[in-house]
Amino acid sequence: MVIKLLVVPGPASRELGLRVAELLGCETVPLDFKVFPDGESYLRFRRKVEGEDLLIVQTTAPPQDSNLIRLLLTVDGAKRLGAKTIKVFVPYLAYSRQDKSFLEGEAISINTVIRLIEASGTTEFYTVNVHSEDIMTRFRIPAFNLSAIPLLAEELKKSGLAGAVSIAPDKGARGLVEEANRILKGGCGWLEKHRDRITGEIEMVEKSLDVAGKDVVVFDDIISTGGTMASAVRIVKRLGARRVYVACVHPLMLGDSEKKIFESGAEKIIGTDTIPGKFSSVSVAPLIAKAVSSEGK
Ligand code: R5P
Repeated sequence: MVIKLLVVPGPASRELGLRVAELLGCETVPLDFKVFPDGESYLRFRRKVEGEDLLIVQTTAPPQDSNLIRLLLTVDGAKRLGAKTIKVFVPYLAYSRQDKSFLEGEAISINTVIRLIEASGTTEFYTVNVHSEDIMTRFRIPAFNLSAIPLLAEELKKSGLAGAVSIAPDKGARGLVEEANRILKGGCGWLEKHRDRITGEIEMVEKSLDVAGKDVVVFDDIISTGGTMASAVRIVKRLGARRVYVACVHPLMLGDSEKKIFESGAEKIIGTDTIPGKFSSVSVAPLIAKAVSSEGK
């Protein structure tokens, strides 16, 4: 795969950026990056990019606000240096869960994030399994949502889980398990979850699912505190599932989420490098490499 782009690995996605460049056979643009004693970020391009097509890779995983600012500064630097086009790959798009006012008076955070990305000079935007597909229509620049579910499902298949049942912890994740089932082929289903908008507490409704004696993979877009996954795993175990695996695209894995999920009976947790960490074993580099190279044809 050879395409003429310069890849800029942002400070929050250095490894992923390097992988993307390698897959595309493209050069990378190094950045000088530091944080001042007062917490402000500093960023400088170490080479000229005038007239070039750029692909900036920078996630907005925690610390979200700092990583978002660093993304905007990177785009600004590229624009000032006269880059011709600036594609931006933000594999985990922070604030996408606040896509509406759930309670009167709440900010619609994702709209502000989108406006900032557009205003920075980004010419094309790519992300992975955004929490709600609907927000993609709010971009006024070309914006693409890529799915890492086939990569996760293929990885699970390689580990012997072909034929496992794909379960979603709520109806919102139904699309994920339908996609996974096209690869694992063990059938799919979903549970029902209610979240208290004030306390954040979740309640999962037990329902009958055909999982008794079968291997199950519970798929979700995000694992944050681990509460959703732990409840889902407990339910499918109670329904008689044999081995239960947990797969998510964005492993935020906050606090004691790992402990909660394993204590609920899960065998293994797999996630992607949209958020780098202990559970980011599957790389989304091939997704963006394929997306930008097929677009260039
Ligand atoms: C919410 O609808 C998302 O899809 C995830 O289910 C949620 O963010 C997981 O959060 P937690 O791990 O805190 O339960």
